[in-house]
Amino acid sequence: MSTLTTRRTDMPDLPGRVLSRPELEGLVDTLAARPELWSGLVAFDTGGRHFVSLFRDEHVDVWLLCWNVVDDTGWHDHDLSAGAVAVVRGAVRETKPRLSGEPVTAVVAAGSGFSFDPEHIHRMTGAVDASLSIHAYSPPLWRMGQYSFGQDGALLRRSLSYADELRPVDPTS
Ligand SMILES: [Fe+2]
Repeated sequence: MSTLTTRRTDMPDLPGRVLSRPELEGLVDTLAARPELWSGLVAFDTGGRHFVSLFRDEHVDVWLLCWNVVDDTGWHDHDLSAGAVAVVRGAVRETKPRLSGEPVTAVVAAGSGFSFDPEHIHRMTGAVDASLSIHAYSPPLWRMGQYSFGQDGALLRRSLSYADELRPVDPTS
C-alpha cells in the first residue's frame, strides 16, 4: 500500500510555461538544497512506497519520493513528460531496458541526479534503505505507461493515471 499526500510547497520562481530539461534539473537541485521545504514530509515506515506531491500546476509537478530497498516502480514511461531527479539522501538505482541486451543499471547517490526526455523508459528502486529523491516533470505527469510481459513473452504497455502507484506488474519481470 502506498501513501500519497498532496501539499503545496513554496516553489522557487517558475517561468510559467513548460520547463526544459536543464530547467527541471535546476529546479530539483534548488529544492534539494532547501530541505526546510520538504524534510517534514519524509516517512519510511508506511508499509509501502511513500511519495508526496510537493507542487503541481499546469506546467510542472514536483514530488518527494522516500525509498527503501524493497521499493520498486517496475518498468514505466512518463508519457508526454520530461523529468529530472535529484537524490538527496542515500542512493537509488535506475535501470533502463534494452531490446538487444541486458538492462543498463546505474546507482545514483546523494548529491547526484539525472534527467530524461519523454521517450525515456526505466524502473527505479531504492539502492539503500531510507533514501530520498526529488522529482520534477514538465508538462505535469498525467498518464504513465507501465510495462510487463505477456505469457508469450511479448512486451505489454498499460496506461496508468499519475496518481496510481507504480509497481512491478510481475515481480519477476
Ligand atoms: Fe520514472
